[in-house]
Amino acid sequence: MKRTVSVAPMMDCTDRHDRFFLRLISKNVMLYSEMIATKSAIHGNKKKILAFSPEEKPLALQVGGSDKKELSEVAKIAEDIGYDEININLGCPSKKVQKNKFGACLMKEPDLVSECISEMVNSCKIPVTAKTRIGFDDTEDFDYLNKFILKMKKAGCKTFIIHARKAILKGLSPKQNLNIPKLNYEMVYKIKEKNQDLEIVINGGISKIEEIKSHLKKCNGVMIGRTIYQNPYFLVDIEREIFNVQNHPTREEVAEKLLQYLEKEVKLGTKVNHIMRHTVGLYHGQIGSKNWKRYLSDNMMARDSDFQKAKHIMTIVQNNEKANKIIA
Ligand SMILES: Cc1cc2nc3c(=O)[nH]c(=O)nc-3n(C[C@H](O)[C@H](O)[C@H](O)COP(=O)(O)O)c2cc1C
Repeated sequence: MKRTVSVAPMMDCTDRHDRFFLRLISKNVMLYSEMIATKSAIHGNKKKILAFSPEEKPLALQVGGSDKKELSEVAKIAEDIGYDEININLGCPSKKVQKNKFGACLMKEPDLVSECISEMVNSCKIPVTAKTRIGFDDTEDFDYLNKFILKMKKAGCKTFIIHARKAILKGLSPKQNLNIPKLNYEMVYKIKEKNQDLEIVINGGISKIEEIKSHLKKCNGVMIGRTIYQNPYFLVDIEREIFNVQNHPTREEVAEKLLQYLEKEVKLGTKVNHIMRHTVGLYHGQIGSKNWKRYLSDNMMARDSDFQKAKHIMTIVQNNEKANKIIA
């Protein structure tokens, strides 16, 4: 499985519709689900919570939890449903997540984490991976992080996604926790340097092709979140520059395929806005971006938006394509 470039798990963003949309643009990136709590995965409506389209693959399920029995059950469920990887969230700092004892607060409990990983590894054959931070609160220490990683390695985890900033568990909101603690890429590079046998994927603040190339000299992969959500067509640059794929779909082709998906999904009961909300950034930085956003917000963002209106969307797309071609 290739993890050269992955799209980060993002709550309320990387649901199955977003992933389908992103996959229309890139065949080579690895995709992750939003974090799903173990209890929801086990007791909730599995079809709604865990379902995905085969086109999304390769795909990882990210899970939040610290109960080893539950985690191993979810790992088995993920494998049975067809996910390619199960990833444990050890990086989310939100209060709610801490209250339920998962996410970044688990960095304080390496023994518990390694027991959880060991149970997960024993219950499935797909790779069990971990997404963590470089530290938490006052702890931003290479030896601490390295020992934490070595414990997880002993339990059977070989792939680590490391968000290169520590988590502040008290006093910062989840949003502030994505910007305020300083990025420390060097610490992630050093983890890779000292652990050549592990697959280390670096995450945090990566937004340019040159940055991706430079991180790939030191790590096995990069994971990108906000940049891709805000500018999904950046994936074309990634396909071209990182994966050397020269044949890429135009925005018009992406929109056409998405409309076919939309029509099929609407017949199954999906709301138009649940799919189209992910496409706001399709014309990011292009002529026509404003028109696109306005069209979406006027016609496709309401709870009861009508699919019939979606058919007119191709006129906006074609006008935008023409305008951008003239400039080019
Ligand atoms: C809206 C939003 C939701 C997020 N949800 C999750 C999540 O469910 N699981 C997780 O591990 N990280 C989550 N993150 C963190 C991202 O995966 C990523 O680590 C972070 O955004 C840093 O990468 P970036 O600078 O490329 O965005 C979320 C981030 C954002 C912005």
